[in-house]
Amino acid sequence: MNSKPSVIVAIDGTAASGKGTLAKRLAAHFKYAYLDSGSLYRAIGVAVLRKGGQPTTEADAVAAAKTLDISQFSPEDLRTEAAGVAASQVAAIPAVRAAILQYQRDFAHHPSGGQAGAVLDGRDIGTVVCPDAQAKIFVSASLDVRVQRRIRELRGKGELVIEARVRADLEARDVRDSSRAVAPMKPAEDAWQFDTSALNADEVFDLAKKFVADRIAKTAV
Ligand code: DC
Repeated sequence: MNSKPSVIVAIDGTAASGKGTLAKRLAAHFKYAYLDSGSLYRAIGVAVLRKGGQPTTEADAVAAAKTLDISQFSPEDLRTEAAGVAASQVAAIPAVRAAILQYQRDFAHHPSGGQAGAVLDGRDIGTVVCPDAQAKIFVSASLDVRVQRRIRELRGKGELVIEARVRADLEARDVRDSSRAVAPMKPAEDAWQFDTSALNADEVFDLAKKFVADRIAKTAV
């Protein structure tokens, strides 16, 4: 295990803002571990649905969170729009968030592959999970742009897509994720608020890479 403190990069932002793609590329570039915290909430939501439960019912969601085995879910299981909605519902339950908080912190502070740092993406990484992160970015994009990005992603996977439905789901998720009582989606005070509406994925990556490199250099001991 690494004895130096892990460098932590927190990438938060709205649904379909491109934060996952960005976080993955940053992790690969800096050779850091990567955790998509949304996939944990998605797996909990899908586990509830598989058992015939309700993602909005606390007992169902907490039971799934406490017995979570992420290996039971393929990326295809987790990346559907239905999984995203169920994730947003279980994520509003404080006991669900509490059940997976320590796992995320351990991942960030002690990357299991011995990497010198970790990139985590989600909604509350910079505010709650890792308020001590050296670099925090809050990624956003206009609703129109996010709808088009999500449609491309879903069509690419062969899902049948209805634009109005995607728009309504994203809007409902924005409201639920930012208005919940515990760990609502919001930029940390020391986060760089990065609107990517007018940028392509390479431009987003280049700007973010410079920001993170600069933050790492400034916080190096
Ligand atoms: O990033 P995503 O779309 O995969 O996340 C799915 C849902 O999980 C999102 O709508 C809210 C929830 N979530 C959360 O509440 N906190 C996180 N750190 C990550 C995701």
